[in-house]
Amino acid sequence: MQTKTLAKPPAETTILVTGGAGFIGSHTVVELLNAGYRVVVLDDLSNSNEESLNRVRQICGLSAEDSEADRLQFVEASILDETALERMFAQHDIDGIIHFAGFKAVGESVEKPLEYYWNNVGGTLVLADVARRHGVKSIVFSSSATVYGDPDEVPITEMAEKHEATNPYGQTKSMLERILSDLYVGDPEWNVVLLRYFNPIGAHESGLIGEDPKGIPNNLLPYVAQVAVGKLPEVGVFGDDYPTPDGTGVRDYIHVVDLARGHVAALDWMAGRVGTGEASDPYSMTGEPAADGSRRGVGVFNLGTGCGSSVLDVIHAFERACGKTIPYAVKPRRAGDIAENYAACDKARTELGWEAQFDLDRMCADSWRWQSTNPNGYAS
Ligand code: UD1
Repeated sequence: MQTKTLAKPPAETTILVTGGAGFIGSHTVVELLNAGYRVVVLDDLSNSNEESLNRVRQICGLSAEDSEADRLQFVEASILDETALERMFAQHDIDGIIHFAGFKAVGESVEKPLEYYWNNVGGTLVLADVARRHGVKSIVFSSSATVYGDPDEVPITEMAEKHEATNPYGQTKSMLERILSDLYVGDPEWNVVLLRYFNPIGAHESGLIGEDPKGIPNNLLPYVAQVAVGKLPEVGVFGDDYPTPDGTGVRDYIHVVDLARGHVAALDWMAGRVGTGEASDPYSMTGEPAADGSRRGVGVFNLGTGCGSSVLDVIHAFERACGKTIPYAVKPRRAGDIAENYAACDKARTELGWEAQFDLDRMCADSWRWQSTNPNGYAS
């Protein structure tokens, strides 16, 4: 089987997006369609809603009557379902994969380690195995800054040592980075990009798609948004005695649309359209490019803004966005949290030609537009 390539025009390239109905996935599908790609979304809807894809069609002008409507296809299946994956690869001429599908709740992963390892690690193995049988060896993996653990210094560069994750969710991200890198070591036709996300928030400016957590949110932004809309009484601030300017935890919040565009930039890089491809850190590997110029190897990139914001900064930015006071109360520190992390973004800027555009006020304004017009998420 001839190995598929990304070195051709986006209009002739089909990208499989696993987990494409989810928060980051749906925003990435919009940016892929805007860039001209054809997209197949595979999602088991275990933590997402198919309505997100109807909204994506609305944003991108792909209504059922549109001649281009087939540029976005949906397959409802789990990455563990080998038969369904086989059928999908046989039916669609897939060239590359952006792999988001996975369970992502830190606390739940401690309670359900078997489910997390089975779904996230096992599912990725099944996916990679079926993909290579169909000649598909280009994959962008949705990794996380969680692989750095408690960093020795900030801003965190891709050179930073990875530290042991404190929960099974984080372990699966670290393990999958290793596994996907080893695929390239064993077969130099693989083209792997590991994107380490900092804290994605915000929503598409249309207010049509956004984050729709099931139950009470674990992460700060959706929690603040639900307090603002009146669904929850107050925000618990987990600790105000960290060694940070105001004592609360500092993170690098990044607009989900910027993050989504980082994936389009990663595809350009894999196709050899941007960057030098030189490895600059111990986790990246540079291979001989293919005859058509597409890269082979492993590329590792942080996707963040490079700016740290505290929990109180976020609450105040959200107050400006929604025009209301957000009640909060200081609570004890949350187990496993670190004081401060934010990204060094030079590598993504120089290699991918990508840089975040939106600031915290814009992230909160977009998040508020989504939350206030869809108070019950896609269910409403
Ligand atoms: C968390 C996960 C991380 C995962 C990321 C994306 C942990 C320890 N880390 O990152 O592995 O990749 O989500 O899903 O869970 N905070 C409050 N009150 C809240 C919620 C959060 O004060 O109700 C604070 C936290 O202490 C932290 C900051 O807000 O300082 C951000 O928290 P969160 O949104 O959960 O993200 P991370 O913990 O950075």
